[in-house]
Formats: sequence, C-alpha cells, structure tokens
Amino acid sequence: MKLWGGRFKKNTNKLVEEFTSSLFFDCRLYKYDIKGSIAHVKMLSKCKIIPPDEAAKIEDGLNEIYREIEANKFVFNAADEDIHMAIERALIDKIGPVGGKLHTARSRNDQVSLDTRFYLKDEIKIIEELILGLQRELMKLAKDNIGIISPGYTHLQHAQPILFSHHLMAYFFMLERDFERLKDCYKRTDVMTLGAGALAGTTFPIDREYVAKQLGFSRVSENSLDSVGDRDFIVDFLSAASLIMVHLSKFCEELVIWSSSEFNFIEIDDAFTTGSSIMPQKKNPDVAELIRGKCGRVFGHLVGLLTTLKALPMAYNRDLQEDKEGLFDTIDTLKLALETFTGMLGSIKVKSENMGKAAKEGFTNATDAADYLTAKGIPFREAHEIVGKMVASCIEKNCHLSDLSLDDFKKFSTLYDKDIFEIIDIKNSVNRKTSFGGTSAKSVNKQMSVAEKIVGKEQAWLA
Ligand code: ARG
Repeated sequence: MKLWGGRFKKNTNKLVEEFTSSLFFDCRLYKYDIKGSIAHVKMLSKCKIIPPDEAAKIEDGLNEIYREIEANKFVFNAADEDIHMAIERALIDKIGPVGGKLHTARSRNDQVSLDTRFYLKDEIKIIEELILGLQRELMKLAKDNIGIISPGYTHLQHAQPILFSHHLMAYFFMLERDFERLKDCYKRTDVMTLGAGALAGTTFPIDREYVAKQLGFSRVSENSLDSVGDRDFIVDFLSAASLIMVHLSKFCEELVIWSSSEFNFIEIDDAFTTGSSIMPQKKNPDVAELIRGKCGRVFGHLVGLLTTLKALPMAYNRDLQEDKEGLFDTIDTLKLALETFTGMLGSIKVKSENMGKAAKEGFTNATDAADYLTAKGIPFREAHEIVGKMVASCIEKNCHLSDLSLDDFKKFSTLYDKDIFEIIDIKNSVNRKTSFGGTSAKSVNKQMSVAEKIVGKEQAWLA
C-alpha cells in the first residue's frame, strides 16, 4: 500500500512504478532529507502543532534511519517512489502511526526543493574549494616559470611574445569569474522553501524562519507557488558549471597541442597520460581529451533542464523530477575534472628552450618595429605599412627582422637608428609591455599579487 494510496482502488502498474521512481538516483539526498525532516519536526513541536514527546520519538526514529543508511543496512524498496517516501515509510515501520505526523504541514513538493537546495549548497562549496586549489596551482606555476617567454597567439598564428606566466595567469582570472558565478548561484540556492506546502502554503501556524535558522539558510522564499516550481538555481549552477568546463576544455586543448611533437612545449607526466594498445611509442594526453570531451554531457544537462522547464505551468509538475540526474552528473563530472586537471597541470614539465625559440619565429617583434616609428611621429597606419613591407622582404630572404643591417632598416625608413635592435629583441619586447594588465614581468608580478589577495578573500568566504 502506498503512503498516498487512500483514494486508489487498484495497485500501481509495475511499469509505472519503475517509470516514475526516482529512488535509485535521489537516494543520495538522504542526509539532507533527514536533517530537513528533523528541523521540520522540531518546528512542529515548538509551534505546538504536535506534542513534544511525539516529536522526540520521530527525531529518534529519523536518526536511527540515518545511521542505518550510513551503515548500508537500510533496505531501499523499489515500490517507494523516492527517497522522501522511503524514509517516511521506514519511520512509520519503525515507530508506528505517530511517524505519520512528520508530514504535517509539508508536501513532497516543498520537501524535494529544500533537499536539493540544501545538498547543492554543500556541493557548491566543495567545487569552490577545488577551483581555489587549481588557482593556487596556477599561481605556483606562474611563479616558478616567471622568466620564460612563449609565443603569444591569435588565430593560432604567432602574434607577439609573452611571458608564459602571463598565459597561466589568464586562466587564474577566468577561474576567478567562475568562482564569483558560483558564489552568486549559492546566494540564490541559499533560500529555504519548506513551508510552501504543495503549492499554497498551510493552515498550520508554522515558523519557517525557525526551520531556516536550524538548517543554516539565510532566508526563506517569499511565494509558495514559486517555491515549489522554481529550479532557476539549478539552471544557474549548470550554467556556471558549463563555463568552468569551457575554461578547462580550452586549457586542455592547449595542453594537447603543446605536448604534440610539432610544438613540444611541455611534457605531461607519465602518471597523467596513457599508452596505446598497439603503438608502443605512444604517450597520449587522454585526461586532457576526456575533460574536453565531457563538456558535451555538462552542456547537455543545461540545455536538457532548460527544455524541461520551458513550458511548465505553475506550480509543481512531475517533469521537475528530471532536474536531478543532470545535476548530479554535472556535480560528479565537474569535481572529478577539476581535481584531475589540477593534478595533471602540476605534473607538466615546461620545455622553456623550445618555447623561447618558437617565440622568435613568425615576426612576433613586427609590432615593436612599427611602434618604434610611431613613437617618432609616423602615424601608426603608415608605420604598419612600412614594417609590412620589411616583413615581406625578410620572407623572401628567409631571415628574421633581427638579421637585417641598420642600412637595410634605413632603406624602409630613415628614422630607424641602431637602438632598433634592442627594441626588437624578444625579451625587451615582452618587458616593455608595462601597461596595466600587460605581459611585462612587472605587470605579471602585479597580477600575481592581486591573485594573492583574491585567494585570501575566497578562502575567507569558504571558511
Ligand atoms: N521525487 C519527486 C521529485 O523529485 C518528488 C515527488 C513529488 N511528487 C508528487 N507527485 N507531488 O520531484
């Protein structure tokens, strides 16, 4: 007999039972469901809706169920639709009909919303902790490699030389935006929705603030219809998670490229690579490829939930049960990706000589040669044209700008003097980019001290 079976004359069809059940995935919410129920029953007692001795009995029963689940002794029954029903049924089995008082002034609709929010709050903090770990790894790598020059690209074509640390710090700031998005998402998740009832509130004199306080929620939801129908906080999370995956994937793509024989800029440690079943020489960047590949499922979960939500009438509809598997899979995928990525990044060997050599190829100092003339009064557009012609002649002669003689330079513009050779030196090219946020060592060091402060601030938020 179902807990809701009063009005039914027939048993539920077996297929329907299987089709509608969410127990095999929402069982992971048990801790939050039980904590929420204990806070609820304490509130019922405080508000004199049920007698204190009965509330105590219910609380004891719930604690016992919690211990049983933790010890793997709890029998999950497929006929219980979900974790909420499974726990309530077990409670009634354990302490008798008084257990049936737990669901006073509550519905599964507000209960499932509370449980999901309560669970997600914890998971967001764990993910933030992992992001912080990755940010720290980036700072360490940036510090250890501060002198190393690498080619900076646009369109994956050599553009201008940069500090490798500058490249690394770019990811630090991307991840900081991710961190902030998660904090924002946390704020909207941190809303206590229990007490909305099925949709309209309740006739009992409940105290929702008291429940929120017991469970560590900062506020209670304002509108009962919105409370049970709202999954925006999950969309927020899936969207923040998708962007984190975008950032990881971009970096993974670079690691794959950099570790190819053609680039040969880095080597990923044996522990973070895999071999081939046929080609004995192979060492493949599978971890990076898999993180890149797993973007598909995470983006899919975001689009999936948006699609589920888009035409739902108020208030609760069973469609909303489809919010969970995508959420859970996103959390599992993201946590594993962040952790593995951080380990892999920490394992890389940077081949600074190859990077430095590549940074000199492809006329990466051409902008410096143009800026030189511009600083002497030539309109930049004209300077651009002049250096463009110089580059074309170097391509013909198969040489670098630095291989030209001063006379060669003067043929293109008499304003060139012998200091041009310093200006087009790769190291000087980097270190003269002292503009705020630029790639000079001075500027990158500044970024790193800003990063230091950010990490301190985020650590304090997590504490
Ligand atoms: N397991 C359901 C969910 O995840 C909660 C059940 C509410 N069911 C209902 N028929 N009102 O959404």
